Amino acid sequence: MSNEDFNKRLFKYLDDHQKDYIQRLSDAVAIPSVSAWPDHRPEVFRMVQWTKSFMESLGIAVELADVGEQKLADGTKLKLPDVILGTYGNDKLKKTVVIYGHLDVQPAQVSDGWDTEPFVLTEKSGKLYGRGSTDDKGPVISWLNVIEAYQKLNEPFPVNVKFVLESMEEYGSEGLEDLLKSLKNTFLSGVDYVVISDSYWLGKEKPCLQYGLRGICYFFIDVESSTKDLHSGCFGGTIHEAMTDLIAVMSTLVDDQGRILIDGIYDEVAQLLPEEAEIYKRITFDVKAYSAEAGVDKTIQQDKEQILMHRWRYPSLTLHGIQGAFDGVGCKTVIPRHVIGKFSIRIVPNMKIATVEKLVEKHVKNVMEKRNSPNKVSVKLEHGGDYWLADPNHPQYVAARRATVAVHGIEPDLTREGGSIPITLTFQEQTGKNVLLLPIGASDDGAHSQNEKFDVSNYMNGMKVMGVYFQEVARV
Ligand code: BES
Ligand code: MN
Ligand code: MN
Repeated sequence: MSNEDFNKRLFKYLDDHQKDYIQRLSDAVAIPSVSAWPDHRPEVFRMVQWTKSFMESLGIAVELADVGEQKLADGTKLKLPDVILGTYGNDKLKKTVVIYGHLDVQPAQVSDGWDTEPFVLTEKSGKLYGRGSTDDKGPVISWLNVIEAYQKLNEPFPVNVKFVLESMEEYGSEGLEDLLKSLKNTFLSGVDYVVISDSYWLGKEKPCLQYGLRGICYFFIDVESSTKDLHSGCFGGTIHEAMTDLIAVMSTLVDDQGRILIDGIYDEVAQLLPEEAEIYKRITFDVKAYSAEAGVDKTIQQDKEQILMHRWRYPSLTLHGIQGAFDGVGCKTVIPRHVIGKFSIRIVPNMKIATVEKLVEKHVKNVMEKRNSPNKVSVKLEHGGDYWLADPNHPQYVAARRATVAVHGIEPDLTREGGSIPITLTFQEQTGKNVLLLPIGASDDGAHSQNEKFDVSNYMNGMKVMGVYFQEVARV
């Protein structure tokens, strides 16, 4: 039977089972596997078990890799969730594809402003609302649904697959890098390609394939002023307050044009070459829709190319929050004794984590020296992940383009991303093979945000693209 015939049967099978797929995603979303909430660690373990059972029911051989313990800020230790290593097929004559994904999700609470229960998958006009629906439970389950569909259709699977599914991604992938390094000559030897579906289209209509990610350096600035919280009426005006120091430092990091004010930070940023500048012009991107998705009236840059460049190929600095500051309702006249400011820098080619760390330390030291404050201030790089770039002309990208055309009838844009999946580079280095980002979610899915969703159409078409991708990648 020719490929087109099989594709038709595959698409029909998938369409006929849409209800089952939604139910499956609903079951997964119902497990609140929030990696950042220590008290929810059992739920993360439950998510690992749920996935393991599903995989085993498909005949995938599953091994759980212990990656040790996580040390929390207060010194307590917590077991890290096992990483799922799955092996499907072991035919020497076939190509082997590694699929990476994550089973943990960002925190979510109705009180954050959700319109529905975040851990109850809720369908409304073709959209499936729920935490993790698009990031990254939907895509991970899609891969598995496709394997099941091949089985039900009695179609031999075109490639061998190795799964690496972790559950600490949203917290910096603790333990995974060391694990991958240790697997270089065993589990990861002999693989041909790596594919990751953990990102989103650039818009809502047109598919894309991605060949770049920014990295991230996440910093804590710790300021301690007194041994206990104080009454601002009794002590205000007489002591050096931790929060005043912290705000002073945090206000010197970035200006109103998004330019990072840390001396030397742009020195390692790759020069924009004329060929690269051309790339941005050809990409389909709706600036108005982008502002609407963000829910803002005005963006810093106005033209398409500039916005894309500032998302993908220039660094950015975001202030995230202050731990220990008074953030309750009403007025509390307190002087917090100890505050921790949190910010991160998205890094791009050719910035080095070590350089960024040094420059940030120096900057904070300089600002504090001018303040004559006796307070203890320390800067810590909480986690650092490298940027990643791949070759979008590689045969694996050609295979994914063919698969996209077979489903959507158009060529995908080749794009980069501003977000980070730090382990991507590790896969590239440890396997020495090409890595492809194959997003299936839409730009307005709202990962990490309130009302995260995954469109039913993206779910269905995503599985179709994945299904054809397996055949195409087997042939290139
Ligand atoms: N799926 C995202 C990565 C991503 C974000 C891809 C935006 C494309 C666009 C992933 O789950 C994620 O959130 N990564 C974190 C990494 C961090 C915790 C080290 C991120 O980018 O903030
Ligand atoms: Mn993700
Ligand atoms: Mn995420």
